[in-house]
Amino acid sequence: MKLAVHFTPHGVAPTMIAGRPVLVIDLLRATTTMIAALAAGARAILPAASGEEALKLAQNLERDDVLLAGERRSERIPGFALGNSPLEMRPDVVAGKTLVMATTNGTPALLAAEPGRPVIIAAAVNFKAAAAAAWRAFEESGELTILCAGRERTFALEDAYAAGRFAEAIVPGKSRRGLELNDAAIAARELVRRYGTKWKVAVAASTAARELKERGCRADIAAATEPDTYDLVPIYVDRHVIIPGRG
Ligand code: MLT
Repeated sequence: MKLAVHFTPHGVAPTMIAGRPVLVIDLLRATTTMIAALAAGARAILPAASGEEALKLAQNLERDDVLLAGERRSERIPGFALGNSPLEMRPDVVAGKTLVMATTNGTPALLAAEPGRPVIIAAAVNFKAAAAAAWRAFEESGELTILCAGRERTFALEDAYAAGRFAEAIVPGKSRRGLELNDAAIAARELVRRYGTKWKVAVAASTAARELKERGCRADIAAATEPDTYDLVPIYVDRHVIIPGRG
């Protein structure tokens, strides 16, 4: 059995994850926002590598059914209907819509995870549900990659802590016979020992949380660190983030 954590998508070659389970985390804020959007009734989310690519993707879709969403430097992209806040994802805004979404780190991480099967979208807000789905996938395939979005090609504390929480939930305790952890998985689990199980404490220590606070997004951090708000496990398949089995 192999459990690997990657603190950023860089260095994760498609062949390393092709056909194998991957759990993707961008706690502040992209995966949190995607889960909130689907919970509010959005039909699907199409991740794009950039604002320009999002515009191109949206042009090929039925205009009435599509909303552009995303951020640059944590601010809504000019001309887009939505930013990257979970609090914007209200049923009256997103129900029945397909969101084409571009964010600095989260959507590129998803695109990097594309060859995985399944690709599970995770955050604190769906912690128990996503951990249970990842555990099942791990038991079936004998492998799991936890992919953190990170921040602009570098380590992000909030994602690494979340990776540690998921690793602990999937393989609790010291170890399991025959389990191989990569170095990042060992380090991520150490963060859980450092911060304990309080999402808010660990996330508040991160640079991303500090910067979001400075930009007036304190409520987003509160929402993103509320564990198990949703009992939903979105997956990324055929370029769409969806809730499987939902019509
Ligand atoms: C991202 O995807 O880069 C983040 O979620 C950035 C943010 O919204 O602050």
